Amino acid sequence: MENLILKDKNLYYIGGVVRDELLGRDSFDVDLTYQGNAIDKFGELKECIKVNEPFGTVRLLVDGKEIDIASTRDEKYDKKGHLPEVFDIGCELKRDVLRRDFTINALAKSTLTGEIVDYVNGVNDIKSKCLKVLHDGSFIDDPTRIVRGLKFAVRFGFELDEHTKNLQETYLKNIDYDMSFKRLKKELIETFNLNRQETFDRFINQKIYKLIGENEPEEIPDYDIETLVKKYPVDNIWLVYIGWHPDIENLPLTREEQKIIDDYRELLSTDIKEDNYSVYKSFEGKSKEAILLYTLTQKSELGIKYFSLNGNIAVTGEDLKSLGIPPSKEYSKCFDYILKEKLSNPDLTRDEELNLAKQFFK
Ligand code: CTP
Repeated sequence: MENLILKDKNLYYIGGVVRDELLGRDSFDVDLTYQGNAIDKFGELKECIKVNEPFGTVRLLVDGKEIDIASTRDEKYDKKGHLPEVFDIGCELKRDVLRRDFTINALAKSTLTGEIVDYVNGVNDIKSKCLKVLHDGSFIDDPTRIVRGLKFAVRFGFELDEHTKNLQETYLKNIDYDMSFKRLKKELIETFNLNRQETFDRFINQKIYKLIGENEPEEIPDYDIETLVKKYPVDNIWLVYIGWHPDIENLPLTREEQKIIDDYRELLSTDIKEDNYSVYKSFEGKSKEAILLYTLTQKSELGIKYFSLNGNIAVTGEDLKSLGIPPSKEYSKCFDYILKEKLSNPDLTRDEELNLAKQFFK
């Protein structure tokens, strides 16, 4: 950033953006922190378009770009596993850095000199591809960090260091479920959206799935989910990966997400025969994610067969009316009659469908 406003001895790039630059990767967002009170420093500038007093943050419009600047701050996890309470706005940069999750995310870079400020040996940990928490209570304060660790491990090809691995294992044996499931969900979505089988394998092998809830799943899917999702893309990839968890509803689900889970459970309780008609009728109207979930937990190819079926019939109620048939329950039986034919003969023309309708009502 070239603008002079942003060249300040107390202004630092912080967290992911510094890590990503050292890794030679593009960053999703640029976080800036001001050592001191950012509102006092930038709040009166004409470029300032927003101020958030309780969090000590400002938003500037610089060269047409919106830039958020936070004040250095410390955080207290009075209620473990929930959002921390912000305190000591304007503290020393070092304290701001030490409240963070992993050493690789605790680096700052001066906007003025470009110097990297590394209080925690983070540069070395990036070089040795190592994920290390900053203190032993890190996962107790914020268990979502376990999922963040998984995300960074897979995204960057890093590993937890031994001590961090032990802390994770210990926490997962004694989880406090009074936690922010909203934050957990956000991290799970980001992690599984990577669509990498390796994420799932680590999630299972390291028992990270226990974070979602205390009920043990009867059977954990053993299937190449990555390939399945690549072949049949969906919006909610994360639910294909973990929608089978019996406590999935601990995560606050949207209506669309809840429908996926309801569809999946309905499929589980349906006796699906192998003929085209039964397959079509069983999966019709179910969300794609639910069908994929069913495929992988039931090790069944029936959902895949459904994707290959063409059940779009051309004949409509209007056509039947034109044939002089008064609307009745028989209409849907007629459509089913045509559908059965269409499923075994997808090339059926509209005229042939009309003939079938006539035949049906004879
Ligand atoms: N952070 C943390 N504990 C969390 C979440 C975030 O300590 N549970 C800190 C980390 O220092 C992180 C920074 O806040 O670098 C910004 O968080 P976020 O934007 O979520 O993460 P990034 O590291 O920028 O990762 P990503 O590239 O996935 O956005």
